[in-house]
Amino acid sequence: MTLSFTSLGLSETRVRFLEKSGFTIPTPIQAQAIPHLLSGRDLVGLAQTGTGKTAAFGLPILEQVDLNSNAVQAMILTPTRELAIQVYQAIKSLSEDRRLRVLPIYGGQSIDLQINRLHKGVQVVVGTPGRVLDLLKRGDLKLNKLSWLVLDEADEMLNMGFIQDVERILSQSPPERQTAFFSATMAPSIRELAAKFLRSPVTVTIEQPKAAPTRINQVMYMVPRGWSKSRALQPILELEDPESALIFVRTRKAAADLTRQLQAAGHSVDEYHGDLSQSQRERLLLRFRQRQVRWVVATDIAARGLHVDDLSHVINYDLPDSVDSYVHRIGRTGRAGKEGVAITLLQALDRRKLKDIERHIRQKLEVGNIPTRAQIEARYIEKLQDQLKEALVGDRLASFLPIVTQLSEEYDMRAIAAAALQMAHDHTRPAWMRGDQGVADDAPNDDYGSRPSGDYSNKPKPVKRSRTAVGD
Ligand SMILES: Nc1ncnc2c1ncn2[C@@H]1O[C@H](COP(=O)(O)OP(=O)(O)OP(=O)(O)O)[C@@H](O)[C@H]1O
Ligand SMILES: [Mg+2]
Repeated sequence: MTLSFTSLGLSETRVRFLEKSGFTIPTPIQAQAIPHLLSGRDLVGLAQTGTGKTAAFGLPILEQVDLNSNAVQAMILTPTRELAIQVYQAIKSLSEDRRLRVLPIYGGQSIDLQINRLHKGVQVVVGTPGRVLDLLKRGDLKLNKLSWLVLDEADEMLNMGFIQDVERILSQSPPERQTAFFSATMAPSIRELAAKFLRSPVTVTIEQPKAAPTRINQVMYMVPRGWSKSRALQPILELEDPESALIFVRTRKAAADLTRQLQAAGHSVDEYHGDLSQSQRERLLLRFRQRQVRWVVATDIAARGLHVDDLSHVINYDLPDSVDSYVHRIGRTGRAGKEGVAITLLQALDRRKLKDIERHIRQKLEVGNIPTRAQIEARYIEKLQDQLKEALVGDRLASFLPIVTQLSEEYDMRAIAAAALQMAHDHTRPAWMRGDQGVADDAPNDDYGSRPSGDYSNKPKPVKRSRTAVGD
């Protein structure tokens, strides 16, 4: 028998509302975590990216929160501002009760606005630690009635950059509160730390044979010796022609540089990192979600938790610092049962990191060669044929038949069809695939042994977490 939301202990009204919004069957983490959370247990919930952890902690809170009270009863902490906004929206979408007041609190937005809302009465707060602490210090946010505290992306929240803030927040909330930690990853070192904040927690781990979702097709490409990464990226983008893509780089400067290069080549692409103002960041995410911009070049501030419907590709232009970060980055695609492609560029220096990733996700990854011009052309022709087949069964074709009849008096039918195809081919090919902007030559695919001498051959330096970018 398939589990239902009703059997997990949620009210009829809520279940009916969930069904209306397309939530008919609970995901495994929801099925296992919701009953424990409803019964008041502290909990660590571990489940793959894109498997509905937000509703797993959101639903039990909404089920029990007192909507006739004006006090803050639940708080969810997230590592980035955009994630706070996204979780806030997700929580709101799980309820239709007008008495429910949820507030996102994060840096970069007017604090007065947030204070105003807090004074009017809010039951659920979703925030980043920096701004939450500010509001606690000012006395505008009070946690004396707090019954539920959730750390989303808990392992990240317990990392060095956040731990002190989180501890300060915890020390100001009632010890009898219920606490839950959720993430797709939880290194053993962090788990010990987590145990400090929870009272005899139950751990719910959704068993998976592999740490990375199988719905994500992971492809590794070796950058040929003497090639820069940006040169290697071009044929990959031409072959894949991603509908939508998040391209991860290491630094803000790299994001700006790569974006500029891709824009110059005619792509629909923009940059996303901590140097942008909060409103620029939010506006870009909106444009990305509405498909007004196809690709986004981002730093790791986009690696965790962000949900963009049907994101087709994740590209690791630079490898991430940690293997956990690899799992979160690629998890931006292949969400909610969908499929996705994750591409990673490797240089000879990265072989060790590749081994670490393979060990971590318990999966051997194929390392392919940079696509050749012939492969790109072949893929393009394949796509053209698919489009042609679609047009053949459509009804708009009828209006062109008289032209064909007329031309057939003078030309061979097959020649007419071929000429029309050639025109379509030339027309629909993106500008950057035409002329000499394309791949000038194919990669030498025989020798990757030694150190490449491209633009990015220097050993990358780790970036320091910036307090303006995350967590405030
Ligand atoms: N029971 C359900 N039925 C249908 N869709 C669902 C269900 N639960 C969640 N979803 C959808 O799945 C998507 C991913 O959910 P969510 O963002 O909570 O994933 P997550 O586990 O938190 O991932 P991450 O580890 O990346 O943060 C969302 O669009 C959400 O609306
Ligand atoms: Mg999440």
